This record gives sequence, C-alpha cells and structure tokens, in this order.
Amino acid sequence: KQYYIGVDVGGTSVKLGLFDEEGDLLGKTSVPTPSLACDEGYAAVVGGIEQLMGAVQQPMLFVRGIGLAVPCPVPASGVITMAANIEIDAPALKEALEARCPHALVRYVNDANAAAMGEVWRGSAQGHRSMVMVTIGTGLGGGVVVNGDVIDGAFGAGGEIGHICVNPGEERACGCGLRGCLEQYASASGVVNNYLHVCEQGGVEPVELVGPSDSRSVFDAARAGDEAALAAIDVTMDYLSLGLQIISAVVDPEVYVLGGGASASADMFLDSLREKYAARAFRVSRGTSIEVAELGNDAGIFGAAYVALRAAAREV
Ligand code: BGC
Ligand code: NA
Ligand code: ZN
Repeated sequence: KQYYIGVDVGGTSVKLGLFDEEGDLLGKTSVPTPSLACDEGYAAVVGGIEQLMGAVQQPMLFVRGIGLAVPCPVPASGVITMAANIEIDAPALKEALEARCPHALVRYVNDANAAAMGEVWRGSAQGHRSMVMVTIGTGLGGGVVVNGDVIDGAFGAGGEIGHICVNPGEERACGCGLRGCLEQYASASGVVNNYLHVCEQGGVEPVELVGPSDSRSVFDAARAGDEAALAAIDVTMDYLSLGLQIISAVVDPEVYVLGGGASASADMFLDSLREKYAARAFRVSRGTSIEVAELGNDAGIFGAAYVALRAAAREV
C-alpha cells in the first residue's frame, strides 16, 4: 500500500490531507502555521502526518509522496528564494520530512498551482484542457493550466497573477516590493483595503475587523446592506475583472475557477464579476465561464498530493 500526503501551507494554518493511490481523501487535519525554519516547526508538520497515518493505522514507511504547497514561487530546481508571507527553510523542512518518511518523495509546489491541479484532478476543472485558478485569500494566487499541465515558468513565477500591475500610480508597496499589484486590490486583503478606503473617503466608521485580510466581515456587512461594504466589493470586482481580462489575452482559458477563503462568499460577488468580465473581455473570450472551486479550500491539499503522486509515478 502507498499513501500520499498533501500539505497546504497558509498564513494562518497548515492543512494536511491523506490520500490513497486512487486519490481518495482518507483524512484531514490542520495545525496553526508554525515558523517553518526551526525544528519545532518541522515537528508540527511531521506530527500532522503521524496523526493522519495513525488514524488509518498505517506505518510511516508507507508514505510514498508528500506534496508541499507554499505561497511563493517554486522554481523547477525546488529551491525557494522568495517567500513574502511565510517564514520557511525549504531544504531543512524537506530533510526533516524525508528523515521521518524514508520512502517518500517530497515535492514543493506553489499553492495556487496546487489548487489548480487539484481542481483539474478531482474538482470543477475535470475534463478541461485549459483553466486558470484564482485563489482569493490573504494573497491573490494564480494557477494556469494548459494542455493538462500547470505552467510554472522559467523561474517559478508562471501564474503569479497577484503581482500584475493594475495601478502604476500607487504609492503603497505590495509584500513583493512592487507597487500597484492586483493582490492589493483583489485578494481578501484587497477587499479590506478597498473597504477601509471607501470608509475613509465617505467619513464613515468601518465595522470591526479581526485582521488585515478579514474579508468575511466585509462580506457579512454587505449582506446586511452596508453601503460602504457593497461599494468596496464593487471596486474589488472592477479590479478582479481587469485581472481576468489580462489573463484572457494571454491564456484564453476554457474556464476560470475561483478558490481561496473569500470564494466562500462568492454569493456576494460572482454575478458582478461575471458581468464586469464579460463587459471587458476581448469579444471571443467574453463567454468564458467563471466557477467556484468544487473542492473549496481543500483544492490545495488535493493538488499537492497529486503533484507528489505524479512524481512517484514518474520514478517507477
Ligand atoms: C504569492 C503567490 C501565492 C499567492 C497566494 C502571492 O502573494 O506571490 O506565490 O500563490 O500569494 O498564496
Ligand atoms: Na501560481
Ligand atoms: Zn506584488
């Protein structure tokens, strides 16, 4: 028997999923994101894997692959040089996992690329030859799939749609060091940025937020009729539709799939996004469908496991 583990490293939690060779999800767990640049952090991830294998009463020796989805570009060399939103020592984490799971291949993959592959494998993009995944979370992630494979690019930055410049005049810097990045306007943090901006302009007191990417509170306020929140969502969709228009001109995918935490509030923005996109896109691409990820927030663990499974299949 062989098992595969999909690990999705996010800003607040590390999600882990256990899969069998058929790709069925056998169990899930998560731990609060530790620093992934020290022994305690590696032990937390190893502990999650032990827990999953323990629940199905299987030895760690049967772990054949571990896919690690991380929120930064992953070059083909696997050497991560740029991680804006998390602290990670990628080679050391890989070593710690290999030490505990000696038969496992450990592979890194960009989180949105993983989500894209998860949706192609088991979600709403099954059967599509091309798709673009857009993950709307703390960051804005992108995964571009063409002919069944994700485009990771020469330097690992293929699909980094969060850092398309949509506002060259912007003063505020993005976490990546550039200015005017789409991520600042169209991620969950972007929703919050837009909301605070609208409130400031209108001189109204914002609702209470639990953090800089708490878009949920903004969506809830909008659902209750809060005008500043509704206006902020409208601005967010202006930017997101602009992003999709740009992607369409380069990739022209069959479908867009929206994931990440904020996609849970798609009822508050999907119609608006579809309408704004259709109004902007090049004529032949106006009808491209925009869907919500079928796997929801699990897309990342599915895709990470799939990447590990495919790597193992190539080795035999
Ligand atoms: C990073 C991407 C990542 C995305 C979602 C962006 O800021 O540059 O690599 O996929 O956030 O986590
Ligand atoms: Na990506
Ligand atoms: Zn940026």
